[in-house]
Parts: sequence; C-alpha cells; structure tokens
Amino acid sequence: METSMNFQEQALFKESIKQGIPSDLPQAKPYPADANRAPKRKDILSVDEKQLAVRNALRYFPKEWHQELASEFAQELKDFGRIYMYRFKPNYHMKARSIADYPAKCQQAAAIMLMVENNLDPAVAQHPEELITYGGNGAVFQNWAQYLLAMKYLSEMESDQTLHLYSGHPMGLFPSSVDAPRVVVTNGMMIPNYSQPDDWEKFNALGVTQYGQMTAGSFMYIGPQGIVHGTTITVMNAFRKVLSKGENPQGKIFLTAGLGGMSGAQPKAGNIANCVTVCAEVNANAATKRHQQGWVDELIDNMDELVARVKSAQANEEVVSIAYIGNIVDVWESFYEQEIYIHLGSDQTSLHNPWSGGYYPVDISYEESNRLIREEPEVFKVKVQETLRRHADAVNKHTARGTYFFDYGNAFLLEASRAGGDVMAENGIDFKYPSYVQDILGPMCFDYGFGPFRWVCASGKPEDLDKTDAIAARVLKKIMADSPEEIQQQMQDNITWIEDAKQNKLVVGSQARILYADAQGRMEIAKAFNDAINSGEVGPVVLGRDHHDVSGTDSPFRETSNIYDGSRFTADMAIHNVIGDSFRGATWVSIHNGGGVGWGEVVNGGFGMLLDGSDAAERRLKSMLLFDVNNGIARRSWARNEEANFAIKREMARTPKLKVTLANLVEDDILNNLSL
Ligand SMILES: NC(=O)c1ccc[n+]([C@@H]2O[C@H](COP(=O)([O-])OP(=O)(O)OC[C@H]3O[C@@H](n4cnc5c(N)ncnc54)[C@H](O)[C@@H]3O)[C@@H](O)[C@H]2O)c1
Repeated sequence: METSMNFQEQALFKESIKQGIPSDLPQAKPYPADANRAPKRKDILSVDEKQLAVRNALRYFPKEWHQELASEFAQELKDFGRIYMYRFKPNYHMKARSIADYPAKCQQAAAIMLMVENNLDPAVAQHPEELITYGGNGAVFQNWAQYLLAMKYLSEMESDQTLHLYSGHPMGLFPSSVDAPRVVVTNGMMIPNYSQPDDWEKFNALGVTQYGQMTAGSFMYIGPQGIVHGTTITVMNAFRKVLSKGENPQGKIFLTAGLGGMSGAQPKAGNIANCVTVCAEVNANAATKRHQQGWVDELIDNMDELVARVKSAQANEEVVSIAYIGNIVDVWESFYEQEIYIHLGSDQTSLHNPWSGGYYPVDISYEESNRLIREEPEVFKVKVQETLRRHADAVNKHTARGTYFFDYGNAFLLEASRAGGDVMAENGIDFKYPSYVQDILGPMCFDYGFGPFRWVCASGKPEDLDKTDAIAARVLKKIMADSPEEIQQQMQDNITWIEDAKQNKLVVGSQARILYADAQGRMEIAKAFNDAINSGEVGPVVLGRDHHDVSGTDSPFRETSNIYDGSRFTADMAIHNVIGDSFRGATWVSIHNGGGVGWGEVVNGGFGMLLDGSDAAERRLKSMLLFDVNNGIARRSWARNEEANFAIKREMARTPKLKVTLANLVEDDILNNLSL
C-alpha cells in the first residue's frame, strides 16, 4: 500500500515510534504559540500527595534524569494542576497516516496507532498538547510518556499479544491469542465510593486515573461529523413528532442556544433537516467563528432585525440558519411578544457547568458576567438562577401555544428545577418536558438498534471513503426494500445522509464516516466492506461507533433515560457489552467512567475492529456486531420498551441461536388494587 510520506520522513517517524522513551533526554521546548491550552486544573493535592505525584511521574524515566525532571514536573503541577511531561511530546506531526506508514508487526496494531494519532491531531483535538481530544477533559493518555510507551508496545506487538492500558498507562504486553483484542482500555474505573468529581481531580493529579469521555479515550473520535449526524437525526425526528405526515419543516422554526463545541452543530443540522434554525449565542467570538466556518448562514445582533428576518423566513418557507448574538432568554421573550410561532425548542448552553461560564445571565453583558464569575461568584450564581426561572417561564408560555420543547442532555431542566423554575411535572418527580433520548433517540432509534456506527478508511485515501459511502448506500437500499414499516423512516434518513455526506464536507482528520444503522445494517455494511477489501477495491477499514448508542452506555439521564423499570441506575449493560465484544473479535475494547454527563454519572464502552478482507475478519464482524447491538436491545426489551421488544423478536427470528428472556406485561388494574 502507498505511504503518505517520503522515504526519509518515514524512516525517522518509524525510528521515533520504535524507540518509545528516547535514550537521550530531549530538550525542554517552548509551548506552541497557537495551541489551545487546557484550563488550569484544581490545586487539590496536599504537599505529601504532590510529592507522590512527582514520584509517580518519575517512574517512567531512568534515575539519572530524575533530578532535572523532578523540578520540571513539580512546576507543571504547580502551573497547570497536572504533569503532562511536555518535553517528551514527539517532534513529528501528529495525524492519522496511512496504515502502511506505521512500524508494526501486525496490521491490527498499526490500525490502533493510526486511530490514536488521529485523536491527537491538532486539527481534531481540543487541547492537543495536554492529550485532550474533546469535552475539556477527554484524555487519550495522561502524559506523553504513556503515549510514547504505548506506541512502542504497539510497534512490537505480535498478533497473539494484548496491550493493557490502565487509564492511559501501558501496563504491558501480555500473551493472549489471535482472536483476543489487541488492546484493552479502561479509563477512570474507580471503586464506586471514590467517583465524586473531586476524586477525578485528585487521582488524575496523582497520575493514576483519567477521564476518557467517550471516543477520546477509546481512539474513536472523528471530529464534528459525529455530532452533526446525531443532531440532524434528532431535529428531523423531532419535527416528525410535531408535523402532520407529508408536512415539510421548511419555514418552521427550531429555536435553541449555544454555538460552542457540540452545540455549534445545531445550525448545520437544522439546514440538513430543512428548517429555520435560530440559535442564540452570547459569546460574539463563538458565533462569528461558526459563521466563518460556514456552520451557520447568517449573523444578527439586533432583536428587531432578528424578528423581521425570522418572519420573512417563515413567510417564504426558507431553509436557513441564523445566529443571534445575545441571550437566549431575550429571544424566547421577544418571539412571544411578537407572536412568532416556534415549532421546536431546545437549549444547548453548557448547563452541566452553570457557575463558571456554561450559562450566562440575561440583562448583563458578556464581559460583566465574566467579571462576576471571577470576582463575585455568589452574585453570579443568583443572576444565573433568576435567568433560569425567566427562561423556564418563557418556554412555558410558548409550549402553552403548542411549541414542542425537549431537553438536549445539557441539564437545562435539572438546573432550572434547582433554581426554582416552573419545570416540574404534576407528580413533583418528573420534569414537564422530555429529554431528547426519552422522546426521540430512545424510542425512535436506540430501541430498534439504530445507533452511531462509523468507519475509518485506513489507507487515508478520500477515494476509499467515496467507495465505502457508495457500498453503504447500496447495502442500506437493499435492506430497506424488505424492512418492516417501523424502521423504514430510519433507513431512508440514513440513505439520504450517506448520499449527501460527501457534499456536506464533514471530514476532519481521518477519512471517516458515520451513519445510524441497526444490527442487520451494521453487519451487512461491514461484510460488504470486508468483501471489497478482499477483492482489492478498497484498503483496510476500521469499524467502530460512538459510545452514545443502544448498548454501550449506561447513563440514567441520557442514553438510558428511557428505561423505566428502575434499572437505569445500574451499569450491567455497558459492562456486558465490553466483555462480550472482547471475546467475539473486537480489535480493541474500552470501558469508561464519565463521558458526556460527568464523572460518576455514566459508564460507557466502545470497540474498534479492523477489517482486512480476511475470513477471520468476516467471522469476527458477524459475531461481534450482532452482540454489540442486541445486548442493548435485549435489555431495553426486558425493561418493557415496546420498540425494543419488536426488534428483539425480529432478531430472534433472523438468528435462531439468539434466545432472549422476554418480559410478561402485567395489567395496571392488578397493581392498582394492591394494598401497599
Ligand atoms: N449535541 C448533543 O448531542 C449533546 C448531547 C448531549 C449533551 N450535550 C450538551 O450540550 C451542552 C453544550 O455543549 P458544547 O460542547 O456546545 O458546550 P460549549 O460550552 O462549547 O457551548 C455552549 C455555548 O452556550 C453559550 N451560552 C451560554 N449561556 C448562554 C445564554 N444564556 N444564551 C446564549 N448562549 C449562551 C456559551 O457562550 C457557549 O458558547 C453541554 O452541556 C453538553 O453536555 C449535547
């Protein structure tokens, strides 16, 4: 296979990987001027613990370097709250190369190296110098020594060895078998009583655990494409809930807030879903950046102008996305006064982090708010809570007129309720409004097994991505011809998505693609890829998925929020998933604490699988993908979810060796007449 480097570059790169920790102490280097540095972490360790953190860090290096490195690492701990070992960051450019460029004894190891480097590519990663891929704290490794050692182990690995990574730390290569995973990743696995946010601060500062988020610590991040697709699916299906059959979203309003990391996908998704998106953003820089990147069509900073523009977009049935530079509460209130009807409403401000800049109060400038955060945090908190109450009141007025409002997994309803906002249902336990998983992704996608399947063309060639897009579209169309009514819409949405994917220009970093497919779709697409690799039509392909999926994640307020049998506070599904995938042929598996909603709030796992065109790859993909999806459907069906019950019965009919325990439903009357 072709390489993406000249001979000399390749030799140096390979040498550097194979060396691991260099034999000569590298020079300390200046911090790159253009890098986005991770925020300073909490100073949480006692003096003794700081000494322990430095002692831990020095374990990676020979004695003769200790004197020099000890003071440098102590300084890093002081300045940044963590020891990143900046001077050991390799000099080569970090990016997903062609699989052929990696020094490896087995292709599976080379594929993993490619995916690791993609997660650390400065074009992809949020804080690349600190080995953070996304979400502010989603780490690939804790420090550069771990990266160097892991890559060295991968370069030496044979196809009957397994590398065990403990929160980024390469414990070592262990003999295993050709069918075992090549890498097993755990991130942030704690004794349950040690899973409070400050435990992460402490044990991460000690260098003994890390927050892997979801696809960061499992080497499966593919840039913003994943979130654009998920948001598109959500917005399209939300419109289906509110429009009559055959009605078009054109000219209909989706009002939301936030143009940050994930929230910035909303206007692009709104355009793909064919509606009018109005997205408020208080930070003018964030809004301007998204406008310059082409993720939002128009930028308006004046309310009268916004009202006039939105009225004309409604009247002309336009498809357009508009960023309003200002506070979302002003938009909800003005649109009410101006009698602008909002079909869909949501919010993606960062309310998981309300007191330090995740959510800005109304009637106070952005700059003044930032001053309050620093100098008068108690005043800021009061202002945020007042705003949340106003926000909830304005939403309630619109929903009384017919707006469909959903929580977008950002803790809006939780924080509004804590602030005393009118968002509780009559029973005083539930919220008035559903979350996007409870109402949309759960019943319409996850319960049927549809979830964020993805792949990366390991040759690095855009032509391979085009060919795999075409193969996936062909397979989905064939399956759709015989699909039951219940899943036709999901099939069609994903066929449209894959057919338009290239023109939507979503690739950043590796040649990757995402689409939502169920078990049958994922298996048949993967089998068709493997055949195409075998015939030489395309190079090797890495399969994976986001952890935000049917089976991989136990998260009571997000992925499993539509589980109503009480089991949403358990994490058995995610654990079974990672163990089950590992002995069914995954090339690597990972299991994490945290991810999306926070440390201690979720357990999530994922996998990667290299397809190389071999018979063994075909056997593995069939066995593993079947389990990877149906494990979650079985659990959702046992929780009495109707759609999952339909899907698992269908799968059992298709797969005679699958025998799942089905739930018997009890009549309400029997329960209502009990004296309890
Ligand atoms: N997109 C998804 O599918 C998804 C899924 C689950 C959770 N989330 C949640 O969505 C939230 C947003 O994520 P992000 O990565 O975009 O965060 P982010 O912090 O990068 O962006 C949030 C933006 O909201 C803006 N903002 C804050 N208060 C505002 C206000 N009152 N009016 C207008 N703008 C305001 C901020 O300036 C910021 O730019 C997070 O809580 C995340 O966990 C998103």
